[in-house]
Parts: sequence; C-alpha cells; structure tokens
Amino acid sequence: MAAKCKVEPGTHLYPTPAVMVSCASEFERRPNIIAIAWTGVLASSPPTIGVGVTPARHSHRLIADSGEFVINLPRTDQVDLLDYCGVVSGRDEDKFSACSLTPTPADVLRWAPLIAECPVNLECRVIRRLPLGSHEYFVGEVVRTHVSEEWVDDRGRLVLPAEQLFAYSRGRYHQLGKRLGRHGFSRGSGA
Ligand SMILES: Cc1cc2nc3c(=O)[nH]c(=O)nc-3n(C[C@H](O)[C@H](O)[C@H](O)COP(=O)(O)O)c2cc1C
Repeated sequence: MAAKCKVEPGTHLYPTPAVMVSCASEFERRPNIIAIAWTGVLASSPPTIGVGVTPARHSHRLIADSGEFVINLPRTDQVDLLDYCGVVSGRDEDKFSACSLTPTPADVLRWAPLIAECPVNLECRVIRRLPLGSHEYFVGEVVRTHVSEEWVDDRGRLVLPAEQLFAYSRGRYHQLGKRLGRHGFSRGSGA
C-alpha cells in the first residue's frame, strides 16, 4: 500500500455530476443557464437535490428571487454547451440563444424553464437555503421529472446509457466507462 501525503483540506470529492441549471424570475424573465458541479442528492423521499451557487452569479439572484430551478442533465454531445454556460454570464449574453437551446415552460414551476434539448429535466422548488461561505446551497424538492422517451424502457423505467453520460473531475469532463457491477452484486444478487 502506498504511503499517504497530506494535502490542503479541500472538497476533493471527485468525480461529481455536471449539470445545466436553468432559471428565471419575475424580475429577470430572460431565462438563464448556469453550469453546476456542486450538486448532489440529499434525500430520496421527498426527492431532494441541492445546488451550490456563488452569490456573485447572475443565476444566484434568479434562483433566490423565484425560489425555483430546473436541473437539466446534458448528454456527452452537449458537453460543450454545458462548458459554455459555465464560462459566460447571463448578465452579458442570452445563453439559450447563443447555444441554440429552447426554453420550454415547466409543468409545476412558474418562472424557471426546462431546456428542451436535454434528455432529463428535474423541476425543483427551493425548500431551504444554506449560506455556506463561498457558495449558497439551495435545497430543492423535485416536483416534476421529465425524461426523453428514448431514455425510458417499455416498462416506464429510466434507462441511462453510460456512453451518453459524463462526470466532472478536477476541471475535466469524463465520459462514463465500463460497467463494474450492479447494486448488491458483491452478495450475488446481480450481474
Ligand atoms: C463545469 C463547471 C462547473 C461549475 N460549477 C459551479 C457551481 O457548482 N457553482 C457555481 O456557483 N458556479 C459553478 N461554475 C461556474 C458558473 O457556471 C459560471 O460562473 C457561470 O458563468 C455563471 O453564470 P451566470 O452568471 O449566468 O449565473 C461552474 C463552471 C463550470 C464550467
């Protein structure tokens, strides 16, 4: 076993998801998209997901004002769009139109739109806000989930094709690779 070095304490929890969060508000109706890697599942029931947003971001104001956001999962062929939404501010540009993406009204949310071209869209209502220094964590309850038909099997279950998914790891994007097993396989309950 290799010896350990001590490095600066940090959030080295890699890989993380990388998602496109869409938002808008009563005061800023032009919808916006922000790339977010500080995101994660917080509870299964009620379905709860959080996003950490730096208060200086344009999107921070939109989410804080509306109490809403949509998490959109991009495919690997959309990674350039996610990256673009992570380096340009909605204060300066309309990212929907720059990326040729279509804002579609949500079912339940009033202001935040879905990104039509993304295969999965999670409508989230903010149920708690946690100011945590560099980022504010918006805790969102998922109030509606939309999945592209091609990602649902004939029994209505979500199918996630690994080659169409990617993760973010220390500044780089990586496509998901080889399947290693399934839940419970170590006890012989899966292949
Ligand atoms: C891959 C990636 C992940 C990012 N993750 C976050 C994040 O979790 N929280 C955050 O506040 N900014 C994050 N950013 C930076 C914002 O996406 C970026 O500053 C964006 O331009 C803000 O847009 P806005 O001003 O329109 O809100 C990330 C950027 C990239 C490229």
